[in-house]
Amino acid sequence: MEIILPTIKPTNLENILIKRRSIRRYSPSPLTVEELSHILFSAYGITNELGFRTVPSAGATYPLEIYVSVKDVIDIESGVYKYNPERHSIIKILEEEIGYELALYSLNQMFIAEAPIVLIITAEYQRTTGVYGERGVRYVHMEVGHVAQNIYLTATSLGLGTVSVGAFLDEEIKNLLNIKEDPLLIMPIGRREVV
Ligand SMILES: Cc1cc2nc3c(=O)[nH]c(=O)nc-3n(C[C@H](O)[C@H](O)[C@H](O)COP(=O)(O)O)c2cc1C
Repeated sequence: MEIILPTIKPTNLENILIKRRSIRRYSPSPLTVEELSHILFSAYGITNELGFRTVPSAGATYPLEIYVSVKDVIDIESGVYKYNPERHSIIKILEEEIGYELALYSLNQMFIAEAPIVLIITAEYQRTTGVYGERGVRYVHMEVGHVAQNIYLTATSLGLGTVSVGAFLDEEIKNLLNIKEDPLLIMPIGRREVV
């Protein structure tokens, strides 16, 4: 038996879901620090006094880290920063932005170099596998999907665009950032080009 479900009158959230698309062309205008703040908060921000966050996490182990390569954000020096959810701050780890290198190591997906910011989401699997063993690996991958969707939806609600990029050379990205964690997703973000 098939039941045809009622046609929905979209809620505000559903309207954002309908508008969400992978965007690979960005207007050259800079982002604001407020926009960056919204993006990082929705991605992995802390939402209560227990340290729980905007995304679910197996056992609240929070294995992910978020880096942002800043090319063009008003009042923020270009370079690479690491997001610190505890203080809702960003901490500079590299003086130079790495948009071009990220594009190159993402198998020449050159739109990445055009974006005013690029997020790199990495995982320290041990935080989750230490509790759940091998099964923790899939939990980490589920969690990065939650984070990416939050970023997509917040970007859409702000009139920005992004795309999940999974095709890149892991070792090259690790060396570029000088990190031990494993990179899982690269997400360039910019203003949606008005066409
Ligand atoms: C895990 C994953 C990896 C992806 N990798 C890439 C990528 O390397 N380059 C790219 O341009 N798009 C990438 N995409 C985006 C898909 O191409 C896109 O989501 C799909 O075409 C559907 O379009 P939509 O997101 O606009 O609905 C990836 C998406 C996911 C979920």
